[in-house]
Amino acid sequence: METYDGGAGAPQAEGVPGDAAEARTDEVRADEVRPGQASTEEAGAEGSTEGVRPTDARTTLPVAELHLHIEGTLEPELIFALAERNGITLPYADLDELRARYEFTDLQSFLDLYYANMAVLQTEQDFADMTRAYLARAATAGVRHAEIMMDPQAHLSRGVSLATCVNGVASVLATSQQEFGISTLLIAAFLRDLSEDSALEVLEQLLAMDAPIAGIGLDSAEVGNPPSKFQRLFARAKEAGLRRIAHAGEEGPTAYIIEALDVLGVERIDHGIRCMEDTDLVERLVHELMPLTVCPLSNVRLRAVDTLAEHPLPAMLAAGLNVSVNSDDPAYFGGYVDDNFARLRSEIGLSDFDCVRLAANSIRSSFADEDRKTELLAELAASGR
Ligand code: ADE
Ligand code: ZN
Repeated sequence: METYDGGAGAPQAEGVPGDAAEARTDEVRADEVRPGQASTEEAGAEGSTEGVRPTDARTTLPVAELHLHIEGTLEPELIFALAERNGITLPYADLDELRARYEFTDLQSFLDLYYANMAVLQTEQDFADMTRAYLARAATAGVRHAEIMMDPQAHLSRGVSLATCVNGVASVLATSQQEFGISTLLIAAFLRDLSEDSALEVLEQLLAMDAPIAGIGLDSAEVGNPPSKFQRLFARAKEAGLRRIAHAGEEGPTAYIIEALDVLGVERIDHGIRCMEDTDLVERLVHELMPLTVCPLSNVRLRAVDTLAEHPLPAMLAAGLNVSVNSDDPAYFGGYVDDNFARLRSEIGLSDFDCVRLAANSIRSSFADEDRKTELLAELAASGR
């Protein structure tokens, strides 16, 4: 099957300075310049005041994408292509009919479609094609490191084996840095609306097969499924040497964020936007430098916030929170990381300075090794020259 390119627009050279001055190096190796991205010289040296060159809404910075569900990257065209390949009849006559369903009223209304569309993922090749399509598109968005969640239970419940879904995704991730310039880690996310016993059983199977996972996450329907339900799961993951993250405070209350920290011992919070309702919690998160992987377009599409103009991201930045910008389920929410940045710039006037800060936060908050973080921070610093 041909690789689907995710409908990428042509990327353009960025023109913002790095704030990661400590990581600045004099060299940008040729192989560090992404396909389609001009070198810093080509990007132009003429500066505006204080070395900040004007940028348009469509610029890319080197970033780490820390909140991404691989199943949420299934673009409508790929859904139809995989359905045809697997002889599956979709309940939509055409792309327009499918796209007409992308009007969500809340998280659950999205999850219903998200799980239904996974029916087209049947073989290792399907999982591999989906992953390759994401990486190709993410590369044009400036993503240089990605920590990719997948939902094994959502596939097991459809009769698709762990080996099929894990090997399909992992086979592409194994060469992502050579092929796409993107270092990657795989995170097994557990569905919080299922039982903890189910999650524990799947985790043991993943460990037994030596699946190449760096960590575990917690996702799906949040309200009514508090983090504390998964205390044993996260303890087991810690014992197995896995990194630990959880969705909390997307639709759920601030108490869920506190539970994720205190009961699960998570190292990052996915979303976390509702922390802004509790000043003590904000103070704690700032003090602990706790990363919050914010997904602005997702929050608007799932009505966690009414409009981008009302999104708490600027207030979170102003409060000193360690926030990054991510795409969550880009095929469903109107865009990839670059689209999120572009709309934040054009609709709420996010500054070059804040964009660089968000990019640096994403790199520093990743689970990449220190050498890779240093390399990417240097690339970010160099991107502003
Ligand atoms: N699974 C995929 N996307 C999700 C989201 N935004 N929240 C919770 N679970 C998800
Ligand atoms: Zn998510």
